[in-house]
Amino acid sequence: MPVLSICNHKGGTGKTTTTIHTAAAFGLSGRRVLAVDLDPQGFLTRLLGVEEPPEERSSLALFDPDVMPRDLDVVPLHGFELLPASYNMTKAARKLSRPTDVLWIKEALEQGHDYDLILLDTAAAMTVFSLNALVASDSVLIPVTPEYQPVVGAEQTYATAKLVQDKLNPSLDEPLFLLTQVDARKRDHARYTHYIRETYGSHVLASEIRTSASLAESTHGGETVFDRDIASRGARDYANAADELNRYLFPTPSASNGVPTSLPDESEQTPANVLSSDPDSSMLTGGMWMTLNRL
Ligand SMILES: Nc1ncnc2c1ncn2[C@@H]1O[C@H](COP(=O)(O)OP(=O)(O)O)[C@@H](O)[C@H]1O
Ligand SMILES: [Mg+2]
Repeated sequence: MPVLSICNHKGGTGKTTTTIHTAAAFGLSGRRVLAVDLDPQGFLTRLLGVEEPPEERSSLALFDPDVMPRDLDVVPLHGFELLPASYNMTKAARKLSRPTDVLWIKEALEQGHDYDLILLDTAAAMTVFSLNALVASDSVLIPVTPEYQPVVGAEQTYATAKLVQDKLNPSLDEPLFLLTQVDARKRDHARYTHYIRETYGSHVLASEIRTSASLAESTHGGETVFDRDIASRGARDYANAADELNRYLFPTPSASNGVPTSLPDESEQTPANVLSSDPDSSMLTGGMWMTLNRL
């Protein structure tokens, strides 16, 4: 069952927004999803309107060898569950200084759990928590806004992921990039989008997340843009991205050698054709959006 880290060494690139909407999209389409807040600043927890929990009911529980993942006290939200951050994370990090302290989450999850997908939201700073995330993951998603600093951060994150793959976690897949907060009116955005696509090719999701006021709103009790306005561009963009991720994370046996393609086959594009008359639908809108729209 895939574990996916959401990482970029630069802040403000949409990591937490991507974690929430990916968790919601997969959750609403029937997968059992856990989102884990591994940012000591706890923005995922705060954005979802969840109170700071005691340490034993926070993501720090994954660093306690006596806690089994099945016994984790998680917060149920709209379509997914959250393991929130504790304010004690910074203090806890000071004690996690041995080389083996990067293995805690991996070892905890290996005890077994009942989730179809676990998303690990990380801080911009490279902490012991982010390293734990990469070591425990099957895949890493790098949200990148097509601007200078986020692109530099994304490339540093890519290098870190490759290092972790080489030294600590050989089963970590090649990182995937997701373009976020894309504004077609900005010339720089077109330039950096082109650069990322040229450089990383098929490892950049075809779907892009455009700037959208509805995505910037805080969520209450885990209510996301899918609950508020399924027709909004934020809902469509994240549904498309989740559709693509679905093919990476849960490849069908028909995909050659288990390697998923980043584009759907023609039959899967039918829903997009249905929507193509909509002027706001500038990109593919596939099965995940259709599923969510029916709920
Ligand atoms: N597609 C988007 N359109 C508009 N605002 C966005 C979008 N994605 C994120 N934001 C806003 O940008 C800020 C940073 O996003 P966030 O997901 O917290 O980034 P990170 O976790 O990488 O620091 C937040 O205020 C968020 O609401
Ligand atoms: Mg964040």
